[in-house]
Amino acid sequence: MDADVHNVTYLSLILPYAVVLCIVLWVRREKSRPDLSHIPSVGSSYCFVGAIRFLFNAQSVLQEGYERHKLAPFKVFNLTHWAVVVASPQLIEEVRKASDNDLRACEMPHISYSLAGVGIAHDTRTIADLGTKLARTLPLLFADMHQEVIAAFRDILPSDDAAGWVQLPVVDTVTEIITRVSNRVIVGLPLCRDQEFIALHKRLLKDGTMVAAIVGMFPKTLLQIVVYLFTKLPHDAKEMQRMVQATVEKREEKEQRDNEKFFSKSHDLLSEIIREGQETSSELTHRILAVSLESVHSTSMTFTHALYHLALADEDVIQSMRDEIDAELRHEGWTLAALERMRKVDSFLKESMRISGFRAVTMMRKAVGGYTFADGTYIPANTVLCTPSTAIHLDETKYPHARTFDAFRFARLSSHSSSSSSSSQYRLTTATPDFLAWGYGRTACPGRFFAAAQMKLVLAYFVLHYDVRFLEGDDAVRPPDWCLGASRFPNLGGRVVVRKRRWGEGGASSC
Ligand code: HEM
Repeated sequence: MDADVHNVTYLSLILPYAVVLCIVLWVRREKSRPDLSHIPSVGSSYCFVGAIRFLFNAQSVLQEGYERHKLAPFKVFNLTHWAVVVASPQLIEEVRKASDNDLRACEMPHISYSLAGVGIAHDTRTIADLGTKLARTLPLLFADMHQEVIAAFRDILPSDDAAGWVQLPVVDTVTEIITRVSNRVIVGLPLCRDQEFIALHKRLLKDGTMVAAIVGMFPKTLLQIVVYLFTKLPHDAKEMQRMVQATVEKREEKEQRDNEKFFSKSHDLLSEIIREGQETSSELTHRILAVSLESVHSTSMTFTHALYHLALADEDVIQSMRDEIDAELRHEGWTLAALERMRKVDSFLKESMRISGFRAVTMMRKAVGGYTFADGTYIPANTVLCTPSTAIHLDETKYPHARTFDAFRFARLSSHSSSSSSSSQYRLTTATPDFLAWGYGRTACPGRFFAAAQMKLVLAYFVLHYDVRFLEGDDAVRPPDWCLGASRFPNLGGRVVVRKRRWGEGGASSC
């Protein structure tokens, strides 16, 4: 009771200052806003109305602009500022080619707000370097990833077909599996299996996701206040930092001890960086935690969308994937190369990202000085630019029956291609002007190779060993996504039922 009274007093003291600060910042921002009157607006020409429409209906605002202006830029009021949306292939190419001196890349969109809010280093370049490093070490670490998938499924999902159909909360289950698989490669054993560490990841995913979406509405200066007043993020982040720090210290000792013994060396990301020896333990803790959160959050969200699609997939789609997985495993078992050859699994995930990408806009840039496109469109300094990824993904001229989930769309396109280079454009990790779920150009997601390998491995293993569907009756439909501003999250409360397949049904699945 006392604590409640204390919180209310604390809130009533802070809130008026926060509101005044908001108004002052808003007025200052209004005055310095670039003149975009030559670019047509969609949503509303009035900032306030435009902001409300964008907050609750960003996708339909962007869709309206895309259909009306397609080849010409238009502007929308993206919660706190006007953003110019470019969608034609020529303009997208120009944005891709423009240097950072002309169009500077904006901060990465995922959870950077929540990371910044709790003081965890989230420098884009640092995480990008680690993403690239993870992709390079994949061949070395694939066996560990596979081992972790087996262990995670054994611990989390029903291990016996006699258990029948078992109900599961989708987001919690997916986050737990992805936390273990991602972290097996990032921090290794035993931390990747620590129940407290996993529970913190789950809570941070839910709180962080909300904060990442909501704080976009506030000027950045107020971010810390919002995070501290309304979430448990600071407490949870501190706990995680403590756990990672303890692991870093233990591992530093171990690396020194095992320095000479090649075979006892661990090859996870943490050990690799310790061996490079360029940072203090606390710098290292921040970096490792930032990459761990980034990886778990975006991969879990994306995989949850895919699992919802899987629960609704036709039996022949599932059987076709099982046949493919089985055939590949018969050659050489679970290897990275076998996984790469699984075109249908690849296509299923790519189609899920096409239709349920978690951002309605990507390729965010800010014009440094005035910038003029080749078609003569002038973009004043400090204007934000972006591309309407979801609207492009739903364009009938690019993807026939674009609103229908067609699991093997990309596998078919790939097999009809005349050359290997044209077929590679349909692979899950390839970013193109028509497939923007990873962004495109120099800011395209550097963690995509790592994320895609995890998702393919988990999906292939799941399909081979389990049946999944929504509950019978009224619940047998995909729960609606949660859309806030340009973010689109899979429903965090969805449930499915899963059943372990009977022994022998899994073909090569015994491994
Ligand atoms: C399925 C999982 C993931 C999805 C869907 C995803 C999606 C994206 C998107 C849409 C962008 C913006 C690109 C642009 O607008 O041009 C991005 C950027 C970025 N992502 Fe990911 N990502 C995922 C996983 C990861 C992982 C695992 C890491 C790190 C290990 C990572 C690190 C980054 C970084 C550092 C950037 C900023 C790149 C830059 O600005 O240069 N992402 N990601």
